[in-house]
Amino acid sequence: VFAAIVQAPEDPILGVTVAYNKDQSPIKLNLGVGAYRTEEGKPLVLNVVRKAEQLLVNDQSRVKEYLPILGLAEFNKLSAKLILGDDSPAIQENRVATAQCLSGTGSLRVGAEFLAKHYNERTIYIPQPSWGNHLKVFTMAGLSVKTYSYYDPTTRGLNFQGLLEDLGAAPAGAIVLLHACAHNPTGVDPTVEQWEQIRQLIRSKGLLPFFDSAYQGFASGSLDADAQPVRMFVADGGECFIAQSYAKNMGLYGERVGALSIVCKAADVASRVESQLKLVIRPMYSNPPLHGASIASTILKNSDLYNEWKVELKAMADRIISMRKQLFDALTAKGTPGDWSHIIKQIGMFTFTGLNRDQVAFMTKEYHIYMTSDGRISMAGLSSSTVPHLADAIHAAVTC
Ligand code: LMR
Repeated sequence: VFAAIVQAPEDPILGVTVAYNKDQSPIKLNLGVGAYRTEEGKPLVLNVVRKAEQLLVNDQSRVKEYLPILGLAEFNKLSAKLILGDDSPAIQENRVATAQCLSGTGSLRVGAEFLAKHYNERTIYIPQPSWGNHLKVFTMAGLSVKTYSYYDPTTRGLNFQGLLEDLGAAPAGAIVLLHACAHNPTGVDPTVEQWEQIRQLIRSKGLLPFFDSAYQGFASGSLDADAQPVRMFVADGGECFIAQSYAKNMGLYGERVGALSIVCKAADVASRVESQLKLVIRPMYSNPPLHGASIASTILKNSDLYNEWKVELKAMADRIISMRKQLFDALTAKGTPGDWSHIIKQIGMFTFTGLNRDQVAFMTKEYHIYMTSDGRISMAGLSSSTVPHLADAIHAAVTC
């Protein structure tokens, strides 16, 4: 009965790793998926994660019972606190409904399913471009996806005027997806002043902000600074959705640890929202997994581990910033044609190089360097020893 099924294409991001794994070359380099690597090119398990796991293993009182539908209550509280801040009035006033979800994607999907069921406006605006999965997550949940201007290829920066015009023309009530920091794939973020203008526009038009926070701590190295845009929106007392991921900032990729928070205007509303979230989640996956959220909450509630985490997080962010500098210096030293200053100006895990699809294909074929076809490279996958190889490839791609 399935004989007529056609072969599906690989995922544009995760498929890069599939292609990379098939390549036998010793010089191959995977700059596709946004996953942190050490200077030796190896995946990193943070020390605090190892310590937290040890504490969990040693605790004989721990059992493997189901979590509640909304997940680990302690983890939810700590996650809301992490993104909204210790003294957030929304938390103090019990206006936040939080559900532990399957990392960032699961949090976005649960939020989208909730909106499709309970919100009167079905249109969500996502930036152009955005993370490749956003379109699919929201479409599959039944929302209608439109885009707003974001990136300006000529300046390789923010098209702020276009953004304001497009959001200004959105119908009242429309949902707006915002990358909290370290925009993926462009690495271009609004300034604090620009965020304030975006906030005013969104509130004055009655749009509903939905933050995707996948890189808290990765953009600047500071958890608080990277949460500032979200906190500006919550400080005005209005509603907002937040999807949090611990994949990058705790390196818990495969553990699938994340949270959806819905900030409401009153405690009784939040409590009813929470009750409806359970009805959304139960038929999808019943309840979330225990282990990863236990690791995250062990770190978040223990001040020694928390402080150690901040140091390790800053070290990862700093190594990425140093990769930006080294790649920029290598291209400058080679006299590679073009302005490459965006490599050091962009923020977070990715550089949106400006290389086109053909140049990317050339670099993969001739240099065994793997990246998404839009020219995005994961700076976290680079190290001092691989920078020269990448610089050679970019130089060849733009001069051949
Ligand atoms: C990425 O953009 O590379 C990451 O967010 C991983 C993913 O799931 O796509």
